[in-house]
Amino acid sequence: MTYIANPARYDNMAYRRCGKSGIRLPEISLGLWHNFGGVDTYETYRDILRTAFDAGVTHFDLANNYGPPPGSAEENFGSILKKDFLPYRDELIISSKAGYHMWPGPYGEWGSRKYLIASCNASLKRMGLEYVDIFYSHRPDPDTPMEETMGALDHIVRSGKALFAGLSNYNPEQTAEAVAILKDLGTPCLIHQPKYSMFVREPEEGLLDVLGDNEIGCIPFSPLAQGLLTNKYLNGIPEGSRAALDHGFLQKDEINDVAINKIKKLNEIAVSRGQSLAQMAIAWLLKDQRITTVLIGASRVSQLKNSLGALDNKHFSAEELQQIESILAAK
Ligand SMILES: NC(=O)c1ccc[n+]([C@@H]2O[C@H](COP(=O)([O-])OP(=O)(O)OC[C@H]3O[C@@H](n4cnc5c(N)ncnc54)[C@H](OP(=O)(O)O)[C@@H]3O)[C@@H](O)[C@H]2O)c1
Repeated sequence: MTYIANPARYDNMAYRRCGKSGIRLPEISLGLWHNFGGVDTYETYRDILRTAFDAGVTHFDLANNYGPPPGSAEENFGSILKKDFLPYRDELIISSKAGYHMWPGPYGEWGSRKYLIASCNASLKRMGLEYVDIFYSHRPDPDTPMEETMGALDHIVRSGKALFAGLSNYNPEQTAEAVAILKDLGTPCLIHQPKYSMFVREPEEGLLDVLGDNEIGCIPFSPLAQGLLTNKYLNGIPEGSRAALDHGFLQKDEINDVAINKIKKLNEIAVSRGQSLAQMAIAWLLKDQRITTVLIGASRVSQLKNSLGALDNKHFSAEELQQIESILAAK
């Protein structure tokens, strides 16, 4: 059936300015790392994408290697884009990245000009796009000069293959260096994508300050710690969950007694706020105005709808924040 987007899609979503740029992003964005690959079910992920856009989620995040197999998430997204979203292309912010292993040989990963430009071309082909809105260096390369990697991003933007450049997984010092080079080149860094959640706090140790000082957007990934920060693992590992899948990145040993103990207590606070734990974990990230959008994953429509409900209660009392901190600090 022909997809017609919900005419009310912009009524309930809030959009935050991405750093000092002209771009505003929805408070929740959707990532296609898991659940959109060749191993996943077409009807399910098509439904997830439609539901997201119908709710005002305008930003979809991809990378060359998402799948499995690598590349299949971009292919699948491209096929749905063609069928459902082409009339809405100008309403979408689509991102891709290169940095992790994608093809054999010395030019298939990290940060060389050769790899980034070839990979961007391949991503555009897989998605059937003329350009992506954001192209990221997916990880810093210890062996390639930063000038080369940033020069490749600058080239990709200047050649019209991406509208903006982004960084992911760069530490505060690397970020400051890359940001300065990009600024000199005349292609300012739009956004940084770090791993950040109640369970992963490193961005608070300098990165958020660098981004705030330079007025660069921030899009935390794995805000639910891949599903840990939900109530799904409270009674073991459910069948089909990320921790149960062979190709899932969530390792079974991450679901240990210490983590479960914290999750149980956090869940009690979430319940007292009238939220699911997933909703509280997302709202908790949005309390910081340096966060532009929270980049969630979802394996089914019900999860996406639940996560979007986070936006109904983003306020935390000082007491709640303090309670959360003491739970997280426990050994
Ligand atoms: N830049 C990078 O290096 C990098 C790395 C990783 C991810 N990312 C980006 O970040 C995106 C999100 O990462 P992520 O998938 O790890 O995010 P996440 O939101 O932390 O985890 C998503 C998983 O949590 C579970 N879940 C989601 N919503 C739920 C809910 N409301 N209730 C219960 N369970 C729920 C599902 O697990 P089940 O599958 O078990 O149902 C889902 O697959 C990726 O798609 C990608 O775009 C970027």
